[in-house]
Amino acid sequence: MAEEELVQEKSSDDEEWDETEAAECPAVAAECADSRYDSDMIDLKDICKYYQIGDERVRALDHATMHIYPHEFVSIIGPSGSGKSTLMNIIGCLDVSDAGRYLLDGIPIEDYSENDLAKVRNEKIGFVFQSFNLISKLSAEENVELPLIYQGVKKHERDERVKQALERVNLSHRAKHMPTELSGGQQQRVAIARALVTNPSLILADEPTGNLDSHTSQEIMQIFHGLHKQGNTIVLITHDNNVAKEAQRSIHILDGKLSEVKL
Ligand SMILES: Nc1ncnc2c1ncn2[C@@H]1O[C@H](COP(=O)(O)OP(=O)(O)OP(=O)(O)O)[C@@H](O)[C@H]1O
Ligand SMILES: [Mg+2]
Repeated sequence: MAEEELVQEKSSDDEEWDETEAAECPAVAAECADSRYDSDMIDLKDICKYYQIGDERVRALDHATMHIYPHEFVSIIGPSGSGKSTLMNIIGCLDVSDAGRYLLDGIPIEDYSENDLAKVRNEKIGFVFQSFNLISKLSAEENVELPLIYQGVKKHERDERVKQALERVNLSHRAKHMPTELSGGQQQRVAIARALVTNPSLILADEPTGNLDSHTSQEIMQIFHGLHKQGNTIVLITHDNNVAKEAQRSIHILDGKLSEVKL
């Protein structure tokens, strides 16, 4: 799924999602039960992903095994082409593996229906991309509001949550600005506000500082640290050692193989 489509994704039913309905989605039911907080949020075992290009078979992920626990801040570091985005797409339920097992909140991903997966992406995961992916015709606050519209949140509550999300990234004073009127760092802060406005349990960021200078990267990292302190689980993908070592722990990826590293 293209990133642009993702940010505009809508689960197939528009109506507000009440608790009864939530209980029908395995991931949310698991979270509601609140009994798994000492177990893995993300549990990947021997995940493989292949791409066939002509005669060549690329092993983008080669028996990748990893665990991420709730409230962790983990970085995944590796060079270009090592499989980082492929891994993020699988963790974020944007793509499925060719082999291996993925448990999300203790439940095999195969048990989720398409509709459940759309809900998981919309309600449990906040995505942040290198290229911000803001909608250029919408102001900062309208971009942040969008996921809440898709969730059917009422206008009054939307306004309040958008305001709070922009405050959390210190951008309230730019709420009415269009993306073209914002610096790269400010655009990324809008994208982070959009990712967190739904109160996701997991924030997945793919090279969020990749297009930013080192000073602005530091500002963005401070925001991630703040979100982590507030209890968010963060998985941050990067090729930059300095960025990676700010996380609690780092997982190295090379040729689709994972290994834990000390940075
Ligand atoms: N849709 C695709 N079709 C074919 N090959 C692909 C596809 N997506 C990724 N690959 C290949 O899989 C491998 C891993 O790609 P991936 O995009 O996950 O790397 P990455 O670590 O995110 O790289 P970068 O740092 O440049 O973003 C690469 O060899 C890439 O060429
Ligand atoms: Mg990538």
